[in-house]
Amino acid sequence: MSSLDTKTRGRTSRGRLRALDAYLCRREPELLRRHDGPWARAVFVDVGFGEHPWTTLESADAFRALQPELPVIGVELDAERARAAAAHADARTHFRQGGFELPLGADEPARLIRAMNLLRQGPPERVPEAHRTLGGYLLPSGLLVEGSSDPTGAILTAHLLRRPEGAEAPPTREALLFHTDFSHGFAPLLFRDWLPRDLRRRVRPGEPIHAFFAEWVAAWQEARTAGHTAPPDAFGEAALRLAARTGAVETDAWLLASGFLLWRPREGVPP
Ligand SMILES: C[S@@+](CC[C@H](N)C(=O)[O-])C[C@H]1O[C@@H](n2cnc3c(N)ncnc32)[C@H](O)[C@@H]1O
Repeated sequence: MSSLDTKTRGRTSRGRLRALDAYLCRREPELLRRHDGPWARAVFVDVGFGEHPWTTLESADAFRALQPELPVIGVELDAERARAAAAHADARTHFRQGGFELPLGADEPARLIRAMNLLRQGPPERVPEAHRTLGGYLLPSGLLVEGSSDPTGAILTAHLLRRPEGAEAPPTREALLFHTDFSHGFAPLLFRDWLPRDLRRRVRPGEPIHAFFAEWVAAWQEARTAGHTAPPDAFGEAALRLAARTGAVETDAWLLASGFLLWRPREGVPP
């Protein structure tokens, strides 16, 4: 265990990260399918799968619909959980004990690394180092997804960090993804308590994430005033208005209908 790794509770519900799987299949099919050069060996790594490896196995199923040979590696700090998960291993699915210094072989570059619900309890100051460390295992253009969700996955947010093409540089903060299944209704501030660790306490005046939420709330209030009151309708209409206000929100119809908002500021998601 390195100084970056700290023990966290390990609750895992089946289906918690299914929406994120759907997002990645829809929006990142090339990342999952790519097979040229080192990509032929490139793995999906699920860091901190929890008490049981349900979410790793669900993602393996979802991603292998696009890439049947995809190697999947579940990593867990807790040695007993890693040992127990080995009962679910097969020729393409492996479970290993380890932390942010990932237990990957030299012939196992990563195409996609997911670290969901790991950093919730630690100090926010360790987040950039965790991103840098994990990002170092990615192939250029590989993706790191790090964020939080409520226990069922009804509300989820995640940083999307991309390793730059052709550079030994740390991953860039490409976008912040928000998802809701509307089971809790909808208001932008629903996401505040489930923001990634480094942003959760930053929704206060003067911070870029506060300014973003202020725009989103204003767009949502306008949408409601215009008669879009049902949660999915209010969400979609607010997203269109927010996109017009900021120029930094995607308006793809599938995203909005599926409860995803993707904030992609040109200069990257502010720290
Ligand atoms: C709350 S569970 C999350 C399970 C699953 N990822 C999810 O989102 O439902 C967190 C798990 O991450 C593990 N963990 C915490 N820090 C870790 C690290 N640095 N490397 C690997 N696993 C870690 C904990 O042991 C725990 O089992």
